[in-house]
Amino acid sequence: FKVTWDVAAAEKGGYDHFMLKEIFEQAKVVKDTLMPRLPENQNRVVLDEIKLSKDELDNINKIYIVACGTAYYAGLVGKYLIERITRVPVVAEVASEFRYRDPVIDENTLMIVISQSGETADTLAALRLAKQRGARVLGVVNVVGSSIAREADDILYTWAGPEIAVASTKAYSAQLAAMYLLTCHIALELGKMTEDEFVSLRDELYQLPRKVNRVLSKAEKIKRLADKYVHSKNVFYVGRGLDYMVSMEGSLKLKEIAYVHSEPYAAGELKHGPIALIEDATLVIGIVTQEDLYEKTVSNLKEIKARDGKVLAIAVKGNTEIEKVVDDVIYIPQTHWMFTSLLANIPQQLFAYYVSTALGHDVDKPRNLAKSVTVE
Ligand code: AGP
Repeated sequence: FKVTWDVAAAEKGGYDHFMLKEIFEQAKVVKDTLMPRLPENQNRVVLDEIKLSKDELDNINKIYIVACGTAYYAGLVGKYLIERITRVPVVAEVASEFRYRDPVIDENTLMIVISQSGETADTLAALRLAKQRGARVLGVVNVVGSSIAREADDILYTWAGPEIAVASTKAYSAQLAAMYLLTCHIALELGKMTEDEFVSLRDELYQLPRKVNRVLSKAEKIKRLADKYVHSKNVFYVGRGLDYMVSMEGSLKLKEIAYVHSEPYAAGELKHGPIALIEDATLVIGIVTQEDLYEKTVSNLKEIKARDGKVLAIAVKGNTEIEKVVDDVIYIPQTHWMFTSLLANIPQQLFAYYVSTALGHDVDKPRNLAKSVTVE
């Protein structure tokens, strides 16, 4: 008999799509990105490729995080954490806006650019603008030797491996891991984090890959939920704080691979107008992982339920209270509040993937999209 070995199937590791294979590689990717920088025998973040000294960091009075698409959404998580922990003002902005608004940049500015491909035209242009104006540029990049990697002053590589699917999944998780490392590194350098605080955060980070696999083990349940909600129109993704930041990535995934219109919204902002859109056909994905904002976000979800909306919550295991409020819950394992976004995003990736396949779309090569936008 003749064995026809489908090369593509081999490349997909037996998964139906590259995107699914890459979603399931995330425990390894997070481990590969974190662990070399978190040796147990040193109470610091080891970033060999970064020459930015403590003195130079002391003189930084503003940080820009600039990127596009999914990388920008990872940057928003970085902005939230770096500002909250290091007390240095951070502005996160899409590169296509940043580069044309004549931003205030000087030698006391640190610019962090995030790019999976390292070739995105707008991001590269933003990097060049910042360098022209004297800023120090740190690149968080996945492709070794790419343009952005070559032109940045410092580099923090994400070790996600080649990402084939157009929709970014494992690169985003590796970018979040990089944000976690930078938050701890800058905080330690600026004396805003003690070694003891760092060691306990590092222990949490050591646990993250195992917890990623715990969330991935819920894929079947998430597939059932995607089948249940596959015909939803005008989906909202809502949250507060870091949950709002991660809701933007969830919304983009559903748009770009399932072609279902969705909108990320600050949960506290719905009552200022958009809640008028909520009706029985509306699906709301509520991300509620932030303990200090839990009650407020749950009350927003109750307002949505009161208007006949359907609510699928992503919550931290142990909060059974929420089951009385919403239609469905996907639980993620407990972890430090700083790191929940990485776990909360995995159900969003799988939900979009299964809605897309249920609708019969080409998950790996969505219409009108390119993997790297090297033109403006
Ligand atoms: C991700 O799902 C998108 N395909 C896209 O938004 C991408 O994140 C964006 O184009 C940025 O690409 P980069 O990370 O290679 O710079």
